[in-house]
Amino acid sequence: MTRQDPPHATLYKLALEERRRVASEHFAIDLEELANCLDCGGLEPATADKIVENVLGTYALPFGVAPHFVVNGRRLWVPMVVEEPSVIAAASSAAKRISLGGGFSASVVDRLMTVQIEIHAVDDEQRACKDILAQSEELLRMASEQVPNLVARGGGPRELEVRPLGQGFVVVHMHVDCRDAMGANLVNTIGEGIGPRIAQLGQGTLGLRILTNLCDRRRVRVECRVPAEGLVKRRADDSPPLGAADLRNQAVVIAESMEQASRFAELDPYRAATHNKGIMNGIDSVVIATGNDYRAVEAGAHAYAARSGNYRPLAIWRRRGEELHGCIELPLALGIVGGTLRVHPAAKLALRMLGVRSAGELAQVAAATGLASNFAALLALVTDGIQKGHMALHARGVATQAGALGAEVERVANELARSQRFDLETARLALERLRSTGAAS
Ligand code: MEV
Repeated sequence: MTRQDPPHATLYKLALEERRRVASEHFAIDLEELANCLDCGGLEPATADKIVENVLGTYALPFGVAPHFVVNGRRLWVPMVVEEPSVIAAASSAAKRISLGGGFSASVVDRLMTVQIEIHAVDDEQRACKDILAQSEELLRMASEQVPNLVARGGGPRELEVRPLGQGFVVVHMHVDCRDAMGANLVNTIGEGIGPRIAQLGQGTLGLRILTNLCDRRRVRVECRVPAEGLVKRRADDSPPLGAADLRNQAVVIAESMEQASRFAELDPYRAATHNKGIMNGIDSVVIATGNDYRAVEAGAHAYAARSGNYRPLAIWRRRGEELHGCIELPLALGIVGGTLRVHPAAKLALRMLGVRSAGELAQVAAATGLASNFAALLALVTDGIQKGHMALHARGVATQAGALGAEVERVANELARSQRFDLETARLALERLRSTGAAS
């Protein structure tokens, strides 16, 4: 590592122990503590036994960091937990390109979590809606009484909506500011507390009282602009730098292709599903790393993508001259306090690494990571294709499986990439050759 290279520029080249040391310095977290939190998944079976039922043990996933993120001017290394090779590398490389345009601008659009109270067998739905709405104040007061601690922290119920659904069904939505909690327990408590009064007012049978995962009143929005130099793929270090006109021309072609890729997803739900899967690669990795409920996030994201009746992409890209502009908006119910997984040492570590001060801030980082992942996937798809990068990373896995150690891994992987053969046998032979020439350290 040269003095000009900040440590994160070469993070991926370091051996695990060295990378941990660099991370411990970067985050100012004691190395031993970092190792204790992350060794073997960080969760003691005895702790796991207190989280869910019938526990036999734990199940670990890789925990990595993606440096180069700049969100609202703040530089971040984003912790990500994911089993798919290249997701972390791709997010990090995209964040680096996006940082050339100033990084991600993120905002919380709305911060309310919603509980549904459903009643049925209602004779006159319109009358029921009117009678319930007329008692909004009383219902909001009753709802506040269910969650005194939340109200004391400055949160609480904010708004009530009523909708007739037809066939004698009426549904009430109570929108609640859950502050820094994900809020499932809080809003479910409210729903159960005010349900009987709603059934009485609506003159119907009390049905379900449960949060909706389509929490479209709890959305974040993230935008970015990628300048020409962030779009054009870096060439070999020894090639002469591109002239300004060539850079501009190449950037226009790439930005245009990425806009067309976005438009394809806007027109076709089959593509939109894959486009959104790439986004969720980034979002879920942060959601899992921070101990949040990824099933809730997935349900909300896909329901939101389909809100118009057509399934649509969550992120959209447009060319503006030689630049590319991207934007994502989606519901994200995340918490930084409460929840069973807050006892998970690795989740606590991830939150500490991010240094986020609110649930909204965490949601902004997660959405930025989703936008970065989407950018990386589209850039690869419109240029080299996705397999090249995937195979390069896969090669390191095969090299390790073949028994390569330390610096041998990279060299065997390079050999596989050169021969474009990624099977175990080729890796074993490459390793044997390397060792017999004594070239590996
Ligand atoms: C793979 O995990 C994700 C991609 O398929 C996303 C995309 O096609 O946009 C590469």
